[in-house]
Amino acid sequence: MPRVLVAGSFNVDHVWTAARLPRPGETLAGRYATGPGGKGFNQAVAARRAGADTSFLCALGADAGGELARALARTDGIDLREAPSAAPTGTAGIYLDEAGNNSIVIGAGANAHLSAEFVTAQADAFADAAVVLVQLESPAPAILAALRRARAAGSLAMLNPAPANAEVGAELLASSDIVTPNETEFAGLLERRVGRAPPDAGAGTLPDAQLHALCRELLPHGTVVLTLGGAGCFVSHAEDRRRGDEAACYRAAAAPARVVDTTGAGDAFNGALAASLALRPEAPFTTHVGFATRYAGASTEREGAAAAMPHLAP
Ligand code: RIB
Ligand code: NA
Repeated sequence: MPRVLVAGSFNVDHVWTAARLPRPGETLAGRYATGPGGKGFNQAVAARRAGADTSFLCALGADAGGELARALARTDGIDLREAPSAAPTGTAGIYLDEAGNNSIVIGAGANAHLSAEFVTAQADAFADAAVVLVQLESPAPAILAALRRARAAGSLAMLNPAPANAEVGAELLASSDIVTPNETEFAGLLERRVGRAPPDAGAGTLPDAQLHALCRELLPHGTVVLTLGGAGCFVSHAEDRRRGDEAACYRAAAAPARVVDTTGAGDAFNGALAASLALRPEAPFTTHVGFATRYAGASTEREGAAAAMPHLAP
């Protein structure tokens, strides 16, 4: 069975929804909900519900939050593997407005204890993983270890460089086959890794040829999938590695959706892309992008992060 391995974070999301996001010093009335989240877990649930056998390497607390993750992984049939940690389970405070925009503050908690040693020790999980997917809510050494193990095992190494303020070392990029930033993350990567000022209006507004050239500078040997929210995404392949696509670069439109909550939409896209790559390795990349786009759109039609991931196979 094609397998996806996700290494990353689990958070208990605490979500307050109000008419708009609060300004500094302001108190608003709204409503509250809580549920499972964390970029790593959201992506693992998406990959699983898109039909791939999925392992999730993480660190949880010995508390109700940890239990929530364990129970959900059991229900969904995710192979959850925990690094030891005495810290409480990670948390995220999320403010949501009625247009579906969000602001998030993370308390890493146990997520800070996902270690390179633990990741490296999961040899059997890497052995049959077609795709290894990581994000940046976990310590860089653990993320790097996962990408390197992926390469060593002949798996596709996929980096979702989120959140935007996380430091991305050159070796993380050099160890990745596919990198999937959003516009903010892309701007940060350009500034810090390539020494280019990001365009004011957002990278998505650049002509394709110019955007492609920037992607090539950022990741000379791999594929960049720049996600553009409601505007879909931009794909840029290395000239000699087009992954079955005819064009070296192109745009894909977003799928129409009745948006309720965009929290975790990027995670839905990444998990679904990983699952599609694992399940249909012979299909052109554009097919995988099309599926990930539809999957992400569907995830925005429901409230919540991990809990909103649709059961939808490619
Ligand atoms: O990407 C969305 C996720 O970011 C939320 O589930 C929250 O936990 C934060 O990690
Ligand atoms: Na959602």
